[in-house]
Amino acid sequence: MTEIHTETDDRQLLYIERTKHIVAQRSREVGHPLCACVVTFGCQMNARDSEKLRGILKAVGYQLTDAEDEADFIAYNTCTVRENADKHVYGRLGRLVGLKREKPWLIVGLCGCMMQEPQVVEKVRKSYPVVDLIFGTHNLFTFPELLHKVLTDQRRVIDVWESSPEIVENLPVERKYSFKSGVNIMFGCNNFCSYCIVPYVRGREKSREPEAILNECRRLAKDGVMEIMLLGQNVNSYGKTLDHPVSFARLLSEVCKIDGIRRVRFMTSHPKDLSDELIDVIAENPKICRHFHLPVQSGSDRILKAMNRHYDRNRYLAIVRKLREQVPDISLTTDIIVGFPGETEEDFADTLSLVKEVGYDSVFTFIYSPRTGTPAASMPDQVPEKTVHERFDRLLMQVRESAEERCARFKGRTMDVLVEEENKEPGYVTGRISQNITVHFKGSKDLIGKIVPVTLDDCRGFYYFGTQAGCPES
Ligand code: 5AD
Ligand code: SF4
Repeated sequence: MTEIHTETDDRQLLYIERTKHIVAQRSREVGHPLCACVVTFGCQMNARDSEKLRGILKAVGYQLTDAEDEADFIAYNTCTVRENADKHVYGRLGRLVGLKREKPWLIVGLCGCMMQEPQVVEKVRKSYPVVDLIFGTHNLFTFPELLHKVLTDQRRVIDVWESSPEIVENLPVERKYSFKSGVNIMFGCNNFCSYCIVPYVRGREKSREPEAILNECRRLAKDGVMEIMLLGQNVNSYGKTLDHPVSFARLLSEVCKIDGIRRVRFMTSHPKDLSDELIDVIAENPKICRHFHLPVQSGSDRILKAMNRHYDRNRYLAIVRKLREQVPDISLTTDIIVGFPGETEEDFADTLSLVKEVGYDSVFTFIYSPRTGTPAASMPDQVPEKTVHERFDRLLMQVRESAEERCARFKGRTMDVLVEEENKEPGYVTGRISQNITVHFKGSKDLIGKIVPVTLDDCRGFYYFGTQAGCPES
């Protein structure tokens, strides 16, 4: 297959070469190799973007570190889905002032979704002189050029684009794990759920060409990756805007055909676009992990309508039934927002009863956070904070009860675990079964990146302690 190389890639690759010399010179000046630290906030898409930033930083000669106080370059890859995430970033920026006093050559960069909001950029510009570089999600691929500029100009560089002109394919990436990787299949979102800021900061939905995705997966497989996570804000609508439309189900089955790829995951699915074809492909394909994250957001039809979700409770429950019928051992997880404007006690009771009825394996619970510019932020009847917190606690209790019961269903079974890391407890390692449940067991770090049969002995709520029950598969 031919690679798609564009002028934009070439330009950025040229800047990588140019920046190498500057980084080498700076290292000589400060008397040690320069280190860079990228801190990720938010979702899997941001985690993948951070791997791209790290890839570029490594290519220009920085050594990568997780310790901010060792770094000569720090980037915060921000999230703005909820207000708390914003506050957290401002707090951390405050703490960098002291570090910069000790190390005047320290460069601080901000990127990610928060930077797509003009009022945020304005606030940082005025109140956080510690920040040297600001760029957004749409021009992340220009990072080599921006880095070159901030290193040579010795003054602030701010460059945020409103949309992406093209999808840039060929820049370096530094993966966190050698054996698993995220792969972007699409960017942006067209759904405009009434509470959500993502469509405003990530822009309109744009799918990558299937060949570009498959080539990336093939390259990753050759490089030892056995688990792929296909990433998009709404993977179920993948491919609809391509010149030659391709369904997500089709893409998924093509990815499964790649030799060396043993597990395929995906994130996130919107219930309104979930097709029967997709359920069929999952059922037929053992490489597709038996885990489905299907955000419901609320169990009340009235609230789902106000959220602009385009499905109701019954349709959601019908999808759950179909998934469980066709893929019996599947685990189901979801996102729920508590305290959406106008949520009454009755609406909330519908959410509680839905959680009970579905019996999720795990639930990500969020307190509604008004985001400026979204329709929900100006809706009447914002729910008082005290009520929201009280409902949130009740929801957590319900979730815990259902999830513990669900998780325990695998007790005593021997299942394949992909080992991801050493455990804090010496002599133990940690990994995941296909259903995305975490398992700890006694084993050495040589098992990392291998699939090992493990008997799940002891269920501790959301995770297991187990015993290795055979040799790792080669
Ligand atoms: N307030 C609270 N939670 C939100 N989410 C998205 N926007 C908001 C908001 N304004 C949650 C949704 C989504 C998850 C990624 O974040 O549940 O599925
Ligand atoms: Fe936000 Fe809805 Fe798009 Fe998800 S589908 S990113 S919740 S607008």
